[in-house]
Amino acid sequence: MFANKNLVSAGDILHNAVKKKVAIGAFNFTNMEIIQAIVAGANELKTPVILQASASAINYMGVGYIKAMVSVAAEQSDVPLVLHLDHGKDFDICKKAIDNGFSSVMIDASSLDFEENIAVTKEVVEYAKKYGISVEAELGTLAGVEDDVSVAEGKAFYTDPNQAQEFIERTGISSLAVAIGTSHGVNKGKTGNPKLSIETLRKIKEKVGDFPLVLHGASSVYADAVEKCNTYGSDIQNAYGITDNDITEAIKNGIAKVNVDTDIRIAFLGAVREHLENNKANIDMRKYLGAGRDMAKEMVKRRLKTFL
Ligand code: G3H
Ligand code: 13P
Ligand code: ZN
Repeated sequence: MFANKNLVSAGDILHNAVKKKVAIGAFNFTNMEIIQAIVAGANELKTPVILQASASAINYMGVGYIKAMVSVAAEQSDVPLVLHLDHGKDFDICKKAIDNGFSSVMIDASSLDFEENIAVTKEVVEYAKKYGISVEAELGTLAGVEDDVSVAEGKAFYTDPNQAQEFIERTGISSLAVAIGTSHGVNKGKTGNPKLSIETLRKIKEKVGDFPLVLHGASSVYADAVEKCNTYGSDIQNAYGITDNDITEAIKNGIAKVNVDTDIRIAFLGAVREHLENNKANIDMRKYLGAGRDMAKEMVKRRLKTFL
């Protein structure tokens, strides 16, 4: 069905993860180096991994390049890979991803009201299931910026556990992204790491049982990684992420997919900046992109170790 036997939908992988109380890492990519870093890190730790691209990442790379690069990655990988659309805003972008080799999609209609969110999500599920493709949807709103949509901090709201159960039953989705206090990007807290509402997550789990839940905005934004960027010229301030301890608690309570983009950006950037600073005569991009790729792989492994 998919281009390679190692390219699979997220359905079974996430169900197995939630049963084992582990989580699968879902890492955003925007170029070849990051695909290679993610796949190499997952292979070293012998765990399936989700490679995800947002609509803006698709615009940047082109859907054809994505399909070609990820099929080569799957041929060379010893662990299963999922090619997932991150934050698809409507049916059309989900269809485009499905028609172009993605094995999983997210329809994010969480900014719509409950009934509208259900209607759009159902439409995507109906199309995706003909091709055996898994569908993630979202209920509740993360603080900060959701792709192109800004959500004022005060307006962010947690997922309602009762609605979660009804949403899953009525849509037929494979996994559900929940809002429990995370946000996208480097500034997840004003003066320190935000505390997740594990209580809300527990209540959701009580309602939905072993159904796979997804944590967006789950980067740890490690101080040492930010410090390295700043040492070599960045100006990244008030950078706070989700603690490893909160991630562990979230996984114990039903989170089966953990989304990470920011950590890879910071790791890659720090290494590239350091390389450029220390090699001012170099003009070979393989040198600095290679340094970025190595550090991105180390970050993928660092995060995966906290999920397994
Ligand atoms: O969830 C959002 C991801 O960090 C993707 O961001 O739209 O800039 O690719 P992007
Ligand atoms: P971070 O910004 O915390 O890495 O979150 C990424 C994400 O949720 C992608 O969907
Ligand atoms: Zn997200």
